[in-house]
Amino acid sequence: MKTGSTKRKKPSTEFNLANYDKECESFSWGSVEREIGWQSGAPVNIAKSCVDRHVREGKGDRQALIFLKDTGSQVYTYRDLEKLTNRFANTLKKLGIRKGERVALFLPSIPELYISLLGVVKAGAVAIPLNNKYMSDTVKGFLEDSNPSLVITTSQLYERISGTGVKFIVVGDDGENGWYRLLSNSDDNPDPTELMNREDPLLLLYTSGSTGNPKGVIHVHEGALQYYKTGQWALDLKEDDVFWCNADPGWITGISYGIWAPLLNGVTTLVYNGPFEADKWYNILERNRVSVWYTTPTFLRLLMSAGARVAKKHSFRSLRKILSVGEPLNPIFNRWSQATFNLPIHDSWWMTETGGIMIANFSCLPVKPGSMGKPVPGVNAAIINESGEELLPLEMGQLAIKAGWPAMMRGIWNDSEKYGHYFVMPPWYLTGDLAYRDYEGYFWFQGRIDDVLKINSERVGPFEIESKLVEHPAVLEAGVIGKPDPLRGEIIKAFIVLDSHYSWSEELKQEILHFTSSKLAPHLVPEEIEVCSRMPRTRSGKLMRRVLKSWELGIPYSDLSS
Ligand code: WT7
Repeated sequence: MKTGSTKRKKPSTEFNLANYDKECESFSWGSVEREIGWQSGAPVNIAKSCVDRHVREGKGDRQALIFLKDTGSQVYTYRDLEKLTNRFANTLKKLGIRKGERVALFLPSIPELYISLLGVVKAGAVAIPLNNKYMSDTVKGFLEDSNPSLVITTSQLYERISGTGVKFIVVGDDGENGWYRLLSNSDDNPDPTELMNREDPLLLLYTSGSTGNPKGVIHVHEGALQYYKTGQWALDLKEDDVFWCNADPGWITGISYGIWAPLLNGVTTLVYNGPFEADKWYNILERNRVSVWYTTPTFLRLLMSAGARVAKKHSFRSLRKILSVGEPLNPIFNRWSQATFNLPIHDSWWMTETGGIMIANFSCLPVKPGSMGKPVPGVNAAIINESGEELLPLEMGQLAIKAGWPAMMRGIWNDSEKYGHYFVMPPWYLTGDLAYRDYEGYFWFQGRIDDVLKINSERVGPFEIESKLVEHPAVLEAGVIGKPDPLRGEIIKAFIVLDSHYSWSEELKQEILHFTSSKLAPHLVPEEIEVCSRMPRTRSGKLMRRVLKSWELGIPYSDLSS
């Protein structure tokens, strides 16, 4: 580990994907395996391809991860990472962790998270990243569902999982369960890497749907082909790039594009886990000479609202590509980005379940502001109707993908029925998104089919918030919707029916908010609460959140679907 900064060459200006149409015609995923050193039919391990491969190829001194702190930065080269992840994998083996067992990581984005995650994967186990924003009930639900052999956490976060009876390792504790103590008792030799079948699970990642139960999405080693290739094509990563993905590894973007894609491509990745501040953000881009930046509309909005004066203090000479994901990228973002960075923003579309980028605005194609772009070569995307038939250009329908791309989820943990719902109309994987395609093959996002919300560009199920609200004695029923907000995209609005023993007051509202904030991650606490006399329900009792939305927007319910 070294501290400091080095001069970097400016990356070349040729695009990795130079001819979109030609690649679409001739490309097949099978051709990628050689590029990441895999042999047909031979066992693999994605962590080895991410780290050890570069050391073998003489690039061990290259900076892999740079953790930015207020007091300088902490640099890990590919060689540092190889040694540390080997040691951690050997630690896990000594603790008796075997191939296929699950290890949960309940950590902020500190170096120990990255080392642990890669170590878990080297040891052949399945990593379960749990976002450190989750409060006790939520994390406990995930642990109960996934039943890991071990949890790695910090002494602070440990409080939220105490009492679960799971074995744990604690970063920042120097006792016998201490992460550093265990690591220092292990060696980087022998090579601990388990060779895996490409279809073996690698990751279990929890995400939300519109109904309750935890949904653990399973990803496999084979996904490496796509993480690598989309890193090369959509992010346009090149050897000398300094890449910044400002998503936390508690979400899939922070894993697929915060870890796999940049490491498979051998580039330098920045990690920053401090709070947002516009000047600081611009500083990160400027001082570290970030060349490719993957972000979300949430952060773009925050920067935009901080005003041009903050931006004007900085110059972004190294920056050559900006990408966004997670929610609609309105055309105003592109106007702002041109004025601020002299660059367009390249939108990309994908989901936790797709594992990797599926649709993107590629550098070699003109950006159409407001469009998500075109499918990655090798990905077959379509707009379909309720019977699974493909629709014509400009007709709105469900976005569907022909099943079978490398990074596709391979299951929902403990819930094969839920998994099956995505594939009820073969050959399609159903996304739940509404979109249309234009005559030039660009896709345009139109909304969700279900009631899923997007808060801070992160997927949020209304049910998880509603079920916490009704735990408060004053709340008889609750319905949650996303209320459009000019600055933040969507904010959480809750409608509640009060128990007849209570009457509504500012005090009661504050009490309910306080109650929910002790149970939910901060970004999931409702921003607005409105009392109504009854919840709109179907005859079978199903909550009609769309009616709540039409009340909120002041438009007739029937207009909402069109
Ligand atoms: C949902 C998936 C995996 C990336 C982070 C989000 C929405 C995603 C876009 C986009 C409009 C988008 C969709 C999708 N979404 N990208 N470019 N434009 N909407 O992953 O939390 O699994 O959410 O995010 O509705 O289904 P996620």
